[in-house]
Amino acid sequence: MIFNVLTLFPDQVSGFLNVSITGNAVNKGLIELNTVNIRDFTEPDDKYHKVDDTMFGGGTGMLMKCEPVYKAYQSVKDKCPDTYTVFVGPKGSRLNQSKVIELSKKTSLTIICGHYEGIDSRVLDEIVDEEISIGDYVLTGGELAACVIIDSCSRMIDGVLPNENAFTIESHMNGTLEAPQYTKPQKWHDREVPQVLLSGNQALIDEYNELSSLYETLKKRPDMFDKLEISREKMEKLLAFMRTI
Ligand code: ADE
Repeated sequence: MIFNVLTLFPDQVSGFLNVSITGNAVNKGLIELNTVNIRDFTEPDDKYHKVDDTMFGGGTGMLMKCEPVYKAYQSVKDKCPDTYTVFVGPKGSRLNQSKVIELSKKTSLTIICGHYEGIDSRVLDEIVDEEISIGDYVLTGGELAACVIIDSCSRMIDGVLPNENAFTIESHMNGTLEAPQYTKPQKWHDREVPQVLLSGNQALIDEYNELSSLYETLKKRPDMFDKLEISREKMEKLLAFMRTI
């Protein structure tokens, strides 16, 4: 999958993504990361490489101009004509795991990052397929949001995670949260690992993890629990499980 990021701060994006799991994915050629510096697309005779200007209508602060963003976008479009284009901003629809899965199926994703007070709306109206927010708060720029999207999409791509199926049982993949997990030692600060996980009986362990995952969801994300369709039999098992905790 090819990720293109249009930004005024390419180092912020490459600095984050070129290490650890995403960095390995780049090195193995499983993903490609192209950062495009919007400042490189100002007018050749503009020795100050001005990318922003004051707002019409008297708003405070500076707004990124249309033309450098448009030209940066065209440079990407020439290489990836079918790229899907996302603008990251606080007004977008909220990113969640199903959106991550959908985006990870694209062959090429182009993410446009705003800075200062944002970008002139006209260029966004012309080139953006979708606006995405990573949460109901405002960041100083879109770069962190771009990294969040690229990181979460990359791990859905075959070969990126060390264990092929690692993501199939984790939180948010089926509308539930993952069950609590434990490693050695078996006893730590008087806290024991649940006995069933030491039993070696895989059927029992699977059932325990399923109920434990439902309980985790009920405790920590009741909004998600409310959306689950749970059979009467499973609900009775969950209630019995909760009585043992
Ligand atoms: N840029 C500024 N705030 C943002 C947010 N919440 N999500 C995505 N991009 C942003």
